[in-house]
Amino acid sequence: MRHRPLGRTGLTVSELGFGCASWWGKPAFEERQALGLVHRAIDLGVTFFDTGASYSAGEAEPRLGRALKGRDASRLVIATKAGTYHAGGGRIARDVSPAAVVASAERSLKNLGLDALGLLQLHGPAAAELTDELLRALEDLKARGLVRALGVNSFDPALIERVVALPEFDVVMVDYNVLRPEREPLIARAAAAGKGVLAGMALAMGHTRPLLSRLKGPQDLWYAARALARHRGELARGRGFGFLHRQPGISGSQAALAYVLANPDVSCAVFGATRLAHLEENAAASGLTLPQPLMAQIRAAQARLT
Ligand SMILES: NC(=O)c1ccc[n+]([C@@H]2O[C@H](COP(=O)([O-])OP(=O)(O)OC[C@H]3O[C@@H](n4cnc5c(N)ncnc54)[C@H](OP(=O)(O)O)[C@@H]3O)[C@@H](O)[C@H]2O)c1
Repeated sequence: MRHRPLGRTGLTVSELGFGCASWWGKPAFEERQALGLVHRAIDLGVTFFDTGASYSAGEAEPRLGRALKGRDASRLVIATKAGTYHAGGGRIARDVSPAAVVASAERSLKNLGLDALGLLQLHGPAAAELTDELLRALEDLKARGLVRALGVNSFDPALIERVVALPEFDVVMVDYNVLRPEREPLIARAAAAGKGVLAGMALAMGHTRPLLSRLKGPQDLWYAARALARHRGELARGRGFGFLHRQPGISGSQAALAYVLANPDVSCAVFGATRLAHLEENAAASGLTLPQPLMAQIRAAQARLT
């Protein structure tokens, strides 16, 4: 597994990160398997793990905490998010007030069993919520040694643009994958400003393959329902990328990850997986170079995106 610097934080992360979210964190997904995936990821050299206070209806963080029990977490960068929380009944609520963000970070430390968070990110804040008071509260968490780096996770390019100009933030997490080449200028500006850049949804949620061909287990039904409810645009964009999965010597997921990692401004491509074979296949994408004709084919398919 190769590693990259996380912007100017002084932290180094594996170039592939494991997302502890969605189906991975749900009680319906067997605990033994979920923990086994984290342990295998560590064995494969993954040092960056991404979760959030509201992920998997609040179940993902404590589950990651259980996975880390007895492991040497000092070599790992554990990232979580604040600003959203599970409000019961599957409802996610927002509270980006300074008091709520600080309380969330303190709860996250307990859930994860850590003395310090590697990275605390605000989860989809609005520009108006980035008040001086909030920025001071975040810096105070850093000064208290509870957080090593601060970031913002947002899929709103205008918001990320604003964050890039704020010196208090070290990292941005954007939706960057083979279906989102339009993020590249923004990523370049973030990196030029010294921010660590995390690519969330690095596999485009699997939407480069037809939905029906992916339905094999309960997790696939869950991801399909989420896609139909919230990501129809990504599903449509993915239709022109089936060729990724018909290449010799490289799987479609490896090609998708290698595409993200071909961008030197990306510190880490974060993917989710609930199958061990997927995790192992993805980890093997570290260090792969996309053949030039395949990159040209990707660029041609991207040019056809509306
Ligand atoms: N999605 C969001 O809105 C969002 C927002 C902020 C941050 N993030 C971060 O980004 C991480 C990744 O996002 P995500 O999980 O939504 O999407 P993703 O990683 O782009 O895609 C996950 C899907 O890809 C499948 N997959 C993984 N490896 C595969 C392989 N080798 N072959 C075939 N299928 C494979 C998974 O299937 P299996 O489960 O069967 O392995 C799952 O259905 C999250 O865990 C989170 O940490 C996501």
